Amino acid sequence: MRQAGRYLPEYRRLREKAGDFLKLCFTPELAAEATLQPVRRFGFDAAILFSDILVIPYALGQSVQFTGGEGPQLEAIADRGGLARLKAKLDHRVLAPIYDAIKLSKADLPQGVALLGFCGAPWTVASYMIAGSGTAAQEPARRFAYEDPDGFAELIERLIDASASYLLRQFEAGVDAVQIFDTWAGVLPAEQLRRWCIDPTRRIVAQVRRELPGAKIIGFPRGAGTALVTYVQDVAVDAIGLDWTVDPIFARELQSRLPVQGNLDPFVLLVGGAALDRAVDLTLAAFSERPFIFNLGHGILPQTPVAHVERMLARVRAR
Ligand code: CP3
Repeated sequence: MRQAGRYLPEYRRLREKAGDFLKLCFTPELAAEATLQPVRRFGFDAAILFSDILVIPYALGQSVQFTGGEGPQLEAIADRGGLARLKAKLDHRVLAPIYDAIKLSKADLPQGVALLGFCGAPWTVASYMIAGSGTAAQEPARRFAYEDPDGFAELIERLIDASASYLLRQFEAGVDAVQIFDTWAGVLPAEQLRRWCIDPTRRIVAQVRRELPGAKIIGFPRGAGTALVTYVQDVAVDAIGLDWTVDPIFARELQSRLPVQGNLDPFVLLVGGAALDRAVDLTLAAFSERPFIFNLGHGILPQTPVAHVERMLARVRAR
C-alpha cells in the first residue's frame, strides 16, 4: 500500500536515483523495478503496481507535485470554477507509461505471483483535489460537498468515468486484480458515505464489469466500520480490505460472504517483539478458517524495521 517502499533501502536508493516521485511513477523501467522489489526480497504472493492514486488528477490536467517529505501538493480546486480547468476526459497518453510499467512488471514476476493494479475511490481522490494537500480529516472536501452538492457531484461523476476507464486499461495491460482505495471513507456520516463513497464505487465496478465480466476487484473503504456491510452488498466487490480498527468478530460475518484482506495494525509491525507475534496469531486465528489474504490494515509505516517484516512473515508462513 501507500508509501510501501520507503522502509526498504533498495526503494530509497531507487527513489533517490529518480529524484522526483512522479518521474519514478512515469518511467516504466523504474516503476516496474519498485513494483518487483518487495517480491524479490520477501517472496510475496502478490505485487502491487508502483504508482499513486493522484496520477488521475494529474492526467486530468491538475498540477500535482510530491516535494520532499511534505506529501502531495495539488493546485487546489476551490469551487466549481476550478472544475472547468480540468480536461473533459482522462488523457490516456499521459498514463501510457503506467500501462507499460504493468507490462514490464508482469513479464518479470514469477509465475503464480499476482499483479494488483489500483486506483483511488472518487471521494478520496476528490478530497485531495479540493484540499490541494493532505489534511487531518478532509474538511475542505466535506465543506465543498455540503455547500455545493451539485458541483461536488460533477467532480465525482468525472472521477467515476476516469477511474473505470483507467482500471480497464490496467486490466488490458495485464493486472490480475485491482484494488480501489477509499482511504477517507471513515470521515463521512452514513448518508454521505453512501452517496459519495459506496454509490460511486458501485458504479465504477459496474462499468468495469460491463466491459470485462469477471474482473476481480478488491474494495478498501478505510474507516467504514459497520457500513462495510452495505459497502460489500452494494458495491459487489470480490474481496474486502479491512483496516486495523475492524473487529474480527464483526468481520467474520462478512467473511462468510466474501474473502477478506487485512488487518494487522501497521503500528504493531513497527513496534515488533512479543506484541507483533501476538497480533499475528490473533489475526490468523480470527480469519484463517475462511478465504483470507493476510495483510496489514493500512500501508506500512516508513520507519518499520525490515527485521520486523521478516519476523511477521516467518510466523505467518509457519502456520
Ligand atoms: O505500495 C506501494 O508502494 C504501491 C504504490 C502506492 C503508492 N501510493 C506509492 C506512494 C499506492 C497503492 C498508493 C496509494 C495512495 N496514495 C493512497 C491510498 C492508499 C493509502 O495508503 O491510504 C493515497 C491516499 C495516496 C496519496 C498519497 N501519496 C499521499 C497522501 C502521499 C504522501 C504520504 C506521506 O506520508 O508522505 C503519497 C506519496 C507516496 N505514494 C509515496 C509512495 C511510495 C511516498 C513518496 C516518496 O517516496 O517520496
